[in-house]
Amino acid sequence: MKQIKVFAPATVANVTCGYDVLGFAVENPGDEIVARLIDEPKVIIKKITGDGGKLPIEAEKNTAGVSVINYLKHIKSKQGIELEIHKKMPLGSGLGSSASSSVGSVFATNLLFGNLLSKRELLQFTMEAERVACGSAHADNVAPSLFGGLVLIRNYDPIDVIKIKTPKLFATVIHPEIIVKTEDARNILNKNVPLEKVVKQCGNLAGLITGMFTENYELISRSLVDEIIEPQRAKLIPNFYNVKEVAIENGALGCGISGSGPSIFALSKDEKTAEIVGEKMKKEFAKIKIENDVFVSEINNEGVKVI
Ligand code: HSE
Repeated sequence: MKQIKVFAPATVANVTCGYDVLGFAVENPGDEIVARLIDEPKVIIKKITGDGGKLPIEAEKNTAGVSVINYLKHIKSKQGIELEIHKKMPLGSGLGSSASSSVGSVFATNLLFGNLLSKRELLQFTMEAERVACGSAHADNVAPSLFGGLVLIRNYDPIDVIKIKTPKLFATVIHPEIIVKTEDARNILNKNVPLEKVVKQCGNLAGLITGMFTENYELISRSLVDEIIEPQRAKLIPNFYNVKEVAIENGALGCGISGSGPSIFALSKDEKTAEIVGEKMKKEFAKIKIENDVFVSEINNEGVKVI
């Protein structure tokens, strides 16, 4: 039986000022997916570990299954796929858990079929899987998990995805053990945004991208600001503003909500600072007795890969 095992990294979406248009991948955590070719033209999820029994085993309800079902339809396959999903990251955490699973499964499947499609072509299947997970086909988790690095989604229809060059940057991600469902965190957002906030957000987004290309850490730091989404979602994360304050006081270039939360990320110039920032953030959650995990890594530039 032909099989393959892959690692699909977790991601930090939005990156403050880039709601739905910016995300980066981290070195850890991430999901491991095993895919096997089977003779019947269907998708079977044989096993899921690390999810505490929370994820659906039915392929059509699981993001890992959905992306593969659509891929097999697209290539008009007469064969099918059996999947094992090993969740190595928390669910509902703002780390793009559903995205990593769908990216890993469709990437592995594509390799089993002889690498028929490019990563850019695989993106559509992973975006559709996001729609099943949370009602919206946003790409700011799936694209960085697939391509690695910092990714800009310039446009959705048609999809236009651009990988942004970054200087050396270390991410600290803290996951407090509470669950925020992406769908809920999207539903609380006001659809009308005052023009002056849009102007500031555009300025920061352009500043952030320019800072990345010119390796200007000062510019990156003052652009890591979210005028629109953070003020509306901060209430979903106990102690958010204190955690953010200690991250910046201890040398982080900036700090914000990771995706739809509850995880919080910070970016630092060097690993030592990123580690100190993690310890300080941890203490803030300990004060209010919320268990948490901290992950420190460089931005992952490779994206999903065979292991
Ligand atoms: N951009 C999405 C959101 C990411 O903030 O809702 C969800 O992980």
